[in-house]
Amino acid sequence: MEREIKRVGVVGCGLMGSGIAQTCAQSGYETIVHEVNQQLLDKGLARIHAAWDMMVGKQKLSESQSQVARARLRGTLNLEDFRDCDLVIEAIIENMDEKRKLFPQLDRILRPEAIIATNTSSLTIIEMAAVTTRQDKVAGLHFFNPAPVMRLVEVVRTIATSDETVDTLKGFARSLGKTAIVAKDRAGFIVNFLLIPYMLAAVRMYEQGFATMADIDTGMKLGCGYPMGPFELLDYVGLDTTLYAAGAIYDEFKDPIYAPPPLLKRMVLAGRYGKKNGKGFYNMNEL
Ligand code: 3HC
Repeated sequence: MEREIKRVGVVGCGLMGSGIAQTCAQSGYETIVHEVNQQLLDKGLARIHAAWDMMVGKQKLSESQSQVARARLRGTLNLEDFRDCDLVIEAIIENMDEKRKLFPQLDRILRPEAIIATNTSSLTIIEMAAVTTRQDKVAGLHFFNPAPVMRLVEVVRTIATSDETVDTLKGFARSLGKTAIVAKDRAGFIVNFLLIPYMLAAVRMYEQGFATMADIDTGMKLGCGYPMGPFELLDYVGLDTTLYAAGAIYDEFKDPIYAPPPLLKRMVLAGRYGKKNGKGFYNMNEL
């Protein structure tokens, strides 16, 4: 059984939030995206409009389709504007205290039948559901970066998520042109449980002097057909994001393959987060 979704709210207009809002608006949904201040909102909306300009330039979207998509998207600084949303997707920072402040507000503002989904990549979703009065309507909806391009969405069901919520989110993912897979609410879900130890192993190989970064990346691109090597991907995903996700999976399972390697920790401590701030593995020595 699926519920109809017409209006979507996205909380957070950073890299993931803006990509998710873009995807929803261009797939036909009335979309409202929230940020905490005007500067961040303007920056996120500008990223989306630039992506649509690029798509028009590449003839992936006609000018009139892009105008329709632009008209469907609205930014706000006020969460109360989400009151008519059928689905709200949270994409704020990966901090449980912040999420546990946000979820009761959404719970109060939204209609009782609305679904609250989180794009978290590593936090325990039932902990967010627990501060709402609708645990059955809370789930994970995990997009991959870049959200408008990557074809997968993980629908994450907690011990309390209803079948109706899972079916609705699977249908919603399909309507965005994505393929949904269903994962349990355990750190790493499906993809990061496999991807994170691969990236950490690459850092350890480099740290221990097995090979150069460039050769490790070339090995995986040409030997396995991956679009990016592990260091390119680390820079792309964000070193801070990867460290955080690794720490969360390690905390849950205490398996040493998830223990962050010292170099990754030090890169993040030094403020080198990858593409997002222009300082990552690939320009490590230029800094
Ligand atoms: N909107 C619409 N289209 C977009 C877009 C956007 N915001 N951004 C990029 N595109 C399109 C481009 O127009 C281009 O289209 P074309 O091939 O028809 O010309 C296509 O996407 C590819 O982009 P580029 O040409 O700029 O670059 P590449 O061909 O080098 O591909 C890439 C870039 C898609 C990022 C590719 O390198 C890739 O797939 N890399 C791996 C990404 C990956 O593994 N992501 C998952 C990370 S894990 C994660 O996110 C989980 C988290 O929890 C950690």
